[in-house]
Amino acid sequence: MTAPNAELSASPFLRAARGEPVDRVPVWYMRQAGRSLPEYLKVREGIGMLESCMDPELVVEITLQPVRRYGVDAAIFFSDIVLPLKAVGVDLDIKPGVGPVVASPVRTLADVKAIPDLTPEHVPFITEAVQGLVGELGGTPLIGFAGAPFTVASYLVEGGPSKEHALTKALMFGAPDVWDALMRKIASISAAYLEVQVAAGASAVQLFDSWAGALTPADYEAHVMPHSARVLAAAGALGVPRIHFGVGTANLLGLMGEAGADVVGVDWRTPLDRAIPLVGDRSVQGNLDPTLVFAPPAVMTERAAQIIDAGRAARGHIFNLGHGVIPSTDPDQLKRLTEFVQSYELG
Ligand code: CP3
Repeated sequence: MTAPNAELSASPFLRAARGEPVDRVPVWYMRQAGRSLPEYLKVREGIGMLESCMDPELVVEITLQPVRRYGVDAAIFFSDIVLPLKAVGVDLDIKPGVGPVVASPVRTLADVKAIPDLTPEHVPFITEAVQGLVGELGGTPLIGFAGAPFTVASYLVEGGPSKEHALTKALMFGAPDVWDALMRKIASISAAYLEVQVAAGASAVQLFDSWAGALTPADYEAHVMPHSARVLAAAGALGVPRIHFGVGTANLLGLMGEAGADVVGVDWRTPLDRAIPLVGDRSVQGNLDPTLVFAPPAVMTERAAQIIDAGRAARGHIFNLGHGVIPSTDPDQLKRLTEFVQSYELG
């Protein structure tokens, strides 16, 4: 029998992330744990989202649910990008069907200075949950994650979910000192949050900059990329592969790679054959349109096959959806998709 560490290190997910040859394409799904699973809805009954994230036993169970059901090649830690802010004392909640809501939005230098840095003592329940998971997962890698500074800033500045991110960008354009302090603060919290997860046994990390697609390449490069780069550098120093993902980022893929990613996550709008030349010598992750899981199985798998074929031109390819699983998704379709990807002959 191979030792768990050797089995982990040889897992298709970690091999593809490092750009090593694989026998088959690894697959996992963003938001694979969550409302599309009846077993998730059952264990979440009567318990708030943030409360769930702070309960190690529940986090272990919810993280394992999609691994059991689908046999995916990686688990993603069940938490949220705003959890570390909550842990250091920011007054916020995650409202069902809405998302994160912040009681007192952050707009001034004093507001930024009032946010403490994160230490492992703020998140003992994260350490406990990750350690428990790593024991249960054996040879299946656990992906830790954090929110990137721009995406987390959007919730803090707007006070809740936003389409335009207008107040956030107004701060970026109009108050460079406040912006710089805020981005540094979030970068430090996200880096510390990733360090806690890796120290406890996570074997890869994903930095979610979901809303970075709202920026022009020049603004991204000047005002956001250096801060995300600090988070990715801190994770890189821990020796784990780093995935960097955003939505609507066709124009940013090169920069998101250069920020320090080993794997660039691609949303479904950019075909992989266009994305791959942009990311240089890096792996890619993605990118089936999450609504294709609602199509007839043959249509879904034909598109998945096109993505796997296109992904072969990359240094490495990890199959995923182009964004999170939609809550009304039929789990049986995701099971079919997983089996299809895992049995696809690379030839
Ligand atoms: O399976 C996984 O991917 C792991 C868990 C995970 C959650 N949030 C759980 C969650 C991850 C990786 C996140 C990250 C996250 N949170 C992001 C980046 C990823 C992305 O989707 O782009 C963002 C932008 C957030 C902020 C956030 N939290 C949103 C937009 C929402 C959804 C609001 C809604 O209800 O539609 C949340 C809440 C949330 N986070 C849920 C889950 C399972 C739903 C809450 C519930 O089940 O009650």
